[in-house]
Amino acid sequence: PPTIRQLLASPPSSPTAAIQVNGWVKSVRKQKKVAFAVISDGSSEPGLQAVFTDVGLAKQLTNGASVRLRGMLKDSPGAGQAKELQVSEAEVLGECDPETYPMQKKALTVEYLRDHCHLRARTREIGAMLRLRDSAATAIHDYFHNNGFIHVHTPIITSNDCEGAGETFRIAPSSDPPSTTPSPASSASTSTASSATTAQSTPSEYFHHPAYLTVSSQLHLEAVAAAISRVYTLSPCFRAERSQTSRHLAEFWMLEAEWAFTSSVDDVCTVVEGALRHLLRAHAASSEMEALWRARAAEGGADKRPELLALADAPQPWTRLTYTAAVDLLKAHHARTNAFVFAPDWGKGLQSEHERWLAEEHVRGPVFVTDYPASLKPFYMRANDASSPDHRAPGATVACFDLLVPGVGELVGGSLREERLELLEAAIERHGLDRADYAWYLDLRRYGGAPHGGFGLGFERLISWMSGIESVRECVAMPRWAGRMLL
Ligand code: 4AD
Ligand code: MG
Repeated sequence: PPTIRQLLASPPSSPTAAIQVNGWVKSVRKQKKVAFAVISDGSSEPGLQAVFTDVGLAKQLTNGASVRLRGMLKDSPGAGQAKELQVSEAEVLGECDPETYPMQKKALTVEYLRDHCHLRARTREIGAMLRLRDSAATAIHDYFHNNGFIHVHTPIITSNDCEGAGETFRIAPSSDPPSTTPSPASSASTSTASSATTAQSTPSEYFHHPAYLTVSSQLHLEAVAAAISRVYTLSPCFRAERSQTSRHLAEFWMLEAEWAFTSSVDDVCTVVEGALRHLLRAHAASSEMEALWRARAAEGGADKRPELLALADAPQPWTRLTYTAAVDLLKAHHARTNAFVFAPDWGKGLQSEHERWLAEEHVRGPVFVTDYPASLKPFYMRANDASSPDHRAPGATVACFDLLVPGVGELVGGSLREERLELLEAAIERHGLDRADYAWYLDLRRYGGAPHGGFGLGFERLISWMSGIESVRECVAMPRWAGRMLL
């Protein structure tokens, strides 16, 4: 049978035939001669109004119960819905005790819902968020396919720490004793060890190798892009993030794209901007975005949909400025107003207060900040030379960008990748990495290396930006962050 969303989008071809609807009771109002209930199957918001002229049929209905109803779909005389179901048969499939049901009708706090993660998909907001995630992913696939990219599945288990930030989770079979000597370099010598190697000599390892959950698919995508030219993936990433912020999760999803034969950061920014414009255009009028922004407005916030839609169709490219220019702006603002806790200075990372000011007050919209100092960025970024926008000394800055957006801060990070073998080797050394660990990555430069670049976009941060949902913890069904028990 069709879902409620499908039913409402195209009412049954024969309006005289009874239809069947499955769902959960969201609310029920019983009067003497008629009863009303709202039934949701999660496919749409706000669900379907069911009308019981035989009040007896509604007797068993309580909030949260699962039901199967049969009846006729009719034009609704009431305001608030175009169609309603005039119920002729009702069956309760699963009862729900209104006394103990944790999801009472009263407003539930965000914290309460986090504690009841297994039930919170039943709320309007989380339901709308889940549908928004789904259609945003579909729009992403459309955009990349329309631009000649192919979707690849990259590994979750890896030996590399792509970002070099030491935020990896190490993995091991649960039958192994806890590791006491987690030294990836020393265990390299066990690579040819037979399965007879004792657990003692290779404690807590993945088949005798140190292994981690991936922090980013980038390096693997680069390998595939070196053959398939244009690739992308939307996959989970894991970071042992200690920061307890509204923007950080220990498990999050990242859209990453990588393509060969690009030689400018501008080019990479243009692809990011194109994807985001496509996403905004596809969603600004969706019922999910409407429900989510309405909820924000009800809390006293502004509905930013018109602003987001204007961005989608803005005639000019979104603002792009170099890190050097951004620091000059920040310094001038700080000199005038003493606004920041951390004084901005060339060579230092941008603090989130700096990022917020740039996006929310200075530009009042998305801003690509490009060409950061090499010392602030991972080893793989391409060193700028004399032709770069703000050349200082060779290698002082790298060909990269962060996209900052109001309300969220950093939404995307990307760069050209160093394709020149000697420079990459030098960068690996400078970052204190072991060249042997990157032998395969260096091969990509040795054999038919090509200029290439790409980016990574945090999917939960994207949902937060598009919907106004304040924390990324509410932008995924079952969030994982430091200190939270799993289910
Ligand atoms: O800036 P990051 O660390 O860049 C990379 O990992 C690159 N290797 C990506 C690439 O070029 N292929 O992460 C990219 C984005 C960030 O801009 C942010 O949106 C998101 O991933 N992100 C997180 N989102 C939620 N929780 C976290 N702990 C996140 N860490 C990064
Ligand atoms: Mg980053």
